[in-house]
Amino acid sequence: MRRHASEGAGTTREKSVVELACGMPKAELHVHIEGTLEPGLVMSLARRNGVALAYPSEEALRAACRFRDLQSFLDLYYACASVLRTEQDFYELMVAYLRRAAADGIVHVEIFFDPQTHTARGIAFETVLRGLRRGLEAGRILGLSGRLIMCFLRHLSQAEAFAALAQAEPHLEAIDGFGLDSSERGHPPSQFAEVFARVRSLGRPVVAHAGEEGPPAYIWEALDLLKARRIDHGVRALEDPALVRRLVASRIPLTVCPLSNVRLRVFPEMTAHNLPALLRAGLCVTINSDDPAYFGGYLNDNIRAVAGAFHLSAAEWYVLARNSFEAAWVDEAQREAWTRSLDEYFARQGYPMAGRA
Ligand code: ADE
Ligand code: ZN
Repeated sequence: MRRHASEGAGTTREKSVVELACGMPKAELHVHIEGTLEPGLVMSLARRNGVALAYPSEEALRAACRFRDLQSFLDLYYACASVLRTEQDFYELMVAYLRRAAADGIVHVEIFFDPQTHTARGIAFETVLRGLRRGLEAGRILGLSGRLIMCFLRHLSQAEAFAALAQAEPHLEAIDGFGLDSSERGHPPSQFAEVFARVRSLGRPVVAHAGEEGPPAYIWEALDLLKARRIDHGVRALEDPALVRRLVASRIPLTVCPLSNVRLRVFPEMTAHNLPALLRAGLCVTINSDDPAYFGGYLNDNIRAVAGAFHLSAAEWYVLARNSFEAAWVDEAQREAWTRSLDEYFARQGYPMAGRA
């Protein structure tokens, strides 16, 4: 199953499996809109908005994308986000991402945004939300449906999360769910139990980043205290067999981000990633891009990187796409329609999967 690092994409049959996976209809459920800010757009928005950056050029910015860990990435990510100032900026950012998503065969996206990153700089909450929502609406022309998930920054306090939620409450119809992101180590989900209880009382679903750098205990807390419906990353779940049993039995999805995990040194190289093991443990795993502008690519780049490291079968790629629809926040009729279109796609390509896998 594990490919030798120097081995290429392999035989023609294997190459066609990669193409099959890139072309399949799928949902992306773990992408931070601020993480789609490409160096070119950072530079042009910095010029347009008169924002001074520590990086003189696109090349300098690209060169800075070498990370030791999550925190070293977040430092750059928050610095670059400072170029986003107007509703139009957020709109253009969203539309640029959706164009790339559509080109990757994505039919549905659930997108994180971090309002505290912007309100702390004096940008109105409504400016951020309106721009992103308008962008998501424009994406319908591309055949994409979308959801917006507002994240609380866990390096800030729960009191600050409550203040962010107070800003969101008048606009709840435009916010589909809530999540928890930013620096994981030393910031367990338990520190945010009350604010997520309030989120649930408002009728909104919860997700949480857990088990990226943090221990399996953080995944238990996200499930038991925050009542998270999905775990973002969750790759460290495999260290705890009882947790794996719980996740398998409850079909709680893990939104795994392979290129992110390698770039942030959660795994030393792609061949060391545990995605095949997660999949073969029966977990509801999905593949996602996290912060594609910083980590070397969008969803199909992640697929190609995984395919370059492991011999995943056509049936395993099918399961990954089917999981993405299973894990999406849509009604059953929509889920079934997408799953049918996935079955038809695989059958057309010579890999009948319906009723299997
Ligand atoms: N914010 C953006 N990307 C993140 C990641 N990979 N982990 C935690 N917070 C993030
Ligand atoms: Zn993330």
